[in-house]
Amino acid sequence: MTKMDGSFIPALKFHRLTSLYDPLVRWTTRENTFKRFLVKQVQLSPNQWGLDLACGTATLALLIRKTYPQSYIVGIDGDAKILRMALRKVSEFNANISLLRGLSFELPYPNDSFSAVFSTLFFHHLTRENKQRTMHEVLRVLQPGAALYIADWGKAQNLLMRTAFLAVQLLDGFENTTDNVRGLLPDLLADSGFIQIHELHHYMTLLGTISVYKALKAK
Ligand SMILES: C[S@@+](CC[C@H](N)C(=O)[O-])C[C@H]1O[C@@H](n2cnc3c(N)ncnc32)[C@H](O)[C@@H]1O
Repeated sequence: MTKMDGSFIPALKFHRLTSLYDPLVRWTTRENTFKRFLVKQVQLSPNQWGLDLACGTATLALLIRKTYPQSYIVGIDGDAKILRMALRKVSEFNANISLLRGLSFELPYPNDSFSAVFSTLFFHHLTRENKQRTMHEVLRVLQPGAALYIADWGKAQNLLMRTAFLAVQLLDGFENTTDNVRGLLPDLLADSGFIQIHELHHYMTLLGTISVYKALKAK
């Protein structure tokens, strides 16, 4: 057991379910639609660095890489098992993406490293305290004027979406997910020092509302 075990919730809570992650997310969350939308919100220039925070199986990192082939893409995740799946996908597509095991609230990067940080379906895995620690870390590693782009469970648009989200809460836990479904991620981002925080879009999915947020680091 390493220091990292127990410090994160695996993609589908139990390690034995991780191999089902990709098909499940593809079928239940409109993954392709919201990830493409997210990636299009930024224009990464050649030689700029982008981070996929809690990259999971690297679906988003691959999409960023495909969209901005001349930029440098890094994926980080706390789970060695899911990173092995990510590595297989990255090798299959012969994509130049660096994958690293690490935790979101102790990022192993210098200040002002990244031109953009992306994160999908991740913040609901964190307690409020770890959400805030993570937001501070992201702010530290972003370049001034650069943005964090989040797609994650957001404020339920209606009773149907609120009810659907119970399935996610039963799996991932109520403590980590309540701030998401109450629509509090923008407030937490503001408390952490981000500015110009906007919900860019939201999507109804089989498991609830997914919101896309953009938050800037001041220049
Ligand atoms: C639901 S999955 C999302 C994966 C990927 N971003 C996607 O959109 O498919 C959540 C991921 O967060 C990772 N994770 C959870 N807590 C973490 C932490 N504190 N630091 C880094 N990774 C973490 C899990 O290992 C898992 O891969």
